[in-house]
Amino acid sequence: MTNSSKKRALKTISFKLNQDDYTMEINADERLLDLIRNRLGLIGTKEGCGGGECGACTIIMNGLAVNSCIIPAARADGAEITTIEGLSKGMDEELHPLQKSFLDKGAVQCGYCTPGMLLSAKAFLDQNSDMEISRDDIKEAISGNICRCTGYQKIIEAIYSYSLERKGNH
Ligand code: FES
Ligand code: FES
Repeated sequence: MTNSSKKRALKTISFKLNQDDYTMEINADERLLDLIRNRLGLIGTKEGCGGGECGACTIIMNGLAVNSCIIPAARADGAEITTIEGLSKGMDEELHPLQKSFLDKGAVQCGYCTPGMLLSAKAFLDQNSDMEISRDDIKEAISGNICRCTGYQKIIEAIYSYSLERKGNH
């Protein structure tokens, strides 16, 4: 690659991540997952399949749960992003109640899938804050997240239990 084409491949993007503002220079072929994990050091976002199949790399971008391993970093320009590190921010670094529910219900074993599960669930619950949510709805919402340990039942119960608790607090 010549110097001039190298230059052309760089792009400056600005985004909000876990409530903080960032402006960064990225490579045109950089993945959002690499930017988050390798350059920002937010290693709570995991890499599993690397191909959009397992959900380990899930983040919330503009309100939607997305797989950061298949999203070019350039797409983050102007976006608002939440990673697992941002879930409890603003609560004195205490765990978010959804995280507490996962612990209470025994929904965490090896923990590799947990950040992605939590963020898929959080995006789904936020999108449906006024709706009655069933266990089947939750199953559907986390269908893109693979867990090799728990058999899913405890995860579904944890999300369901939090959805009821949250409704009671409205
Ligand atoms: S690592 Fe991104 S979906 Fe599996
Ligand atoms: S807890 Fe191990 S993969 Fe889900």
